[in-house]
Amino acid sequence: LENKNYYILGINGLGILPSACLLKNNEIVAMAEEERFTRYKGSTGMMPGNAVIYCLNEANISIDDLDTISFGWDANYYPLKMSMFLMKKALFQITNKNYKSSIIRTLNELVKYHPKQVEYKIKEMFREHGIVGKIPKIEFINHHLSHSLSTYYPSGFKKAHILVIDGSGEITSTSIWKANNGIIEKISSISIPNSLGWFYQSITEYLGFKPNNHEGKTMGLASYGKKNELISKKFDKIISFDKLGHYQYNSEFSFTGNLTNGNVYSQELEDLLGLARKKNEVITQFHKDIAYAAQSKLEDTIINLVENKILKDPCFNGNLCIAGGVSLNCKLNGKIALLNGIKNIYIPPFSSDNGTAFGAAISSAINKNLSKFSANVINDLNPYLGPSFSDEYIENKLKELNIKYFKEEDIVKKTTEFLMSNKIVGWFQGRMEVGSRALGNRSILANPMSLENKEILNKKVKNREFWRPFAVSILYEKREEYFDTDIDSPYMTIALTVKKEGLLKVPAGVHVDNTTRPQLVKKENNKKYYYLIKHFGDLTGTYALLNTSFNDKEEPIVCTPEQALRTFFATNLDVLVMGNFYILKSNKET
Ligand SMILES: [Fe+2]
Repeated sequence: LENKNYYILGINGLGILPSACLLKNNEIVAMAEEERFTRYKGSTGMMPGNAVIYCLNEANISIDDLDTISFGWDANYYPLKMSMFLMKKALFQITNKNYKSSIIRTLNELVKYHPKQVEYKIKEMFREHGIVGKIPKIEFINHHLSHSLSTYYPSGFKKAHILVIDGSGEITSTSIWKANNGIIEKISSISIPNSLGWFYQSITEYLGFKPNNHEGKTMGLASYGKKNELISKKFDKIISFDKLGHYQYNSEFSFTGNLTNGNVYSQELEDLLGLARKKNEVITQFHKDIAYAAQSKLEDTIINLVENKILKDPCFNGNLCIAGGVSLNCKLNGKIALLNGIKNIYIPPFSSDNGTAFGAAISSAINKNLSKFSANVINDLNPYLGPSFSDEYIENKLKELNIKYFKEEDIVKKTTEFLMSNKIVGWFQGRMEVGSRALGNRSILANPMSLENKEILNKKVKNREFWRPFAVSILYEKREEYFDTDIDSPYMTIALTVKKEGLLKVPAGVHVDNTTRPQLVKKENNKKYYYLIKHFGDLTGTYALLNTSFNDKEEPIVCTPEQALRTFFATNLDVLVMGNFYILKSNKET
């Protein structure tokens, strides 16, 4: 490799949560989702042009310095193998009375993911941003391999099994892998249309939420539902599973059915369950029970799969890594974590398709034999890989906008005072975190001891439904005050039941089913945030803060100070803390 730096740019584009990730030799230099720059939530279907530009700027390099671009979807599969698969497979069952919509959908996919088309899109992405250099070699990486590397590498486990569950990656919907000393191999996989991701998306859309986006609402609502025998029986027609761990999803209820009302769920689903909920229709007990049934079915199906296909594997050593869109379901993850035989569980902060930019880049790094990535794993992945803004930048911006601000040398102490007097605080520090959750650099924080803060946050600050759960950041070393289990959850990806003692301390951060999705904070992960929680705990006895992402309803997490200011003034936040400055709502100068 001589002495030159080796750069690999990982890209997740054209699908869900476009993102970019830059590896420099053995390091991750930068990573971000495109939505943070476009300000269009999810930015589904786009190429991550802004995120790519950010990565290049952060490393101070140009396109000419890139050795490889790794794309987290295997476009080479499409022209021939995909066409053949589709001809053979159920997606095109001509016997299905409604095959037309699935044929059109699939022909679209064949065009969209043709390698020449993807190459063109990548070139176009650079040109749109005024970058004219030569496009480096593009490698197409299998989507589920990208997912599995994205969770195995940062897990810190030398030896582990990996479970990937999503809607679809090329033809795969679920896959199981095993890894040892950096070498990863697939054990088994399940193909579309037999997809649990599609199942959960269908129910989400049926409940009047946005598929591929609002699955968390379905999960949150499920806790308000109860078991209804009639509905359960109907769900048995949707998914069945056997003693070997296999499951069968009847895809007529989504893409291979007759799509008259939904984009994902079919007429067949309405025929089975009754009329779908319209977007603004009131949520009834029936809807809650449907959510409950969907969540239970998903959990039962995957637990059956884990028990039979992973726990019974004599090679399994107790370490399990999970990724794929379905792994955003933190309640499911919490159930898996408690299974007998699971010793350690890891779900990265970017477990949806955003993580495949990282996984694809790792795959190329392994192929290039970059030493660290070919045999080692990363311990304690640092998720703060996005843009940062200096105090000087922030102060100039505040002056320019004529906003009254205060400078504070001990901002941790000052912020603790605000939190203790029950102020809702916008907290903006350092580099933006990558992944679906705010992890203490672009967060809205509140005192978790006051139950009413939950309602204030949902209603007045985030403008969302009362039943949406929040999460708490807890000092890692205080976790046993809150949980009976010793499961590590550094990125809010696992829901855990809070014990009695903890319920009294953080009532605002606990869902109706007594679970929370904790971020266990270690000093080495985020010093400033760690000391904020510690200081709050030293004074109150509760080493925890209510932490929700810094955004308004349907807005991506804020990235820049300007966006933080916009959201601060557009919502009922009381205080905005940015770097060592703070702004009070009442002191806004007009
Ligand atoms: Fe995926």
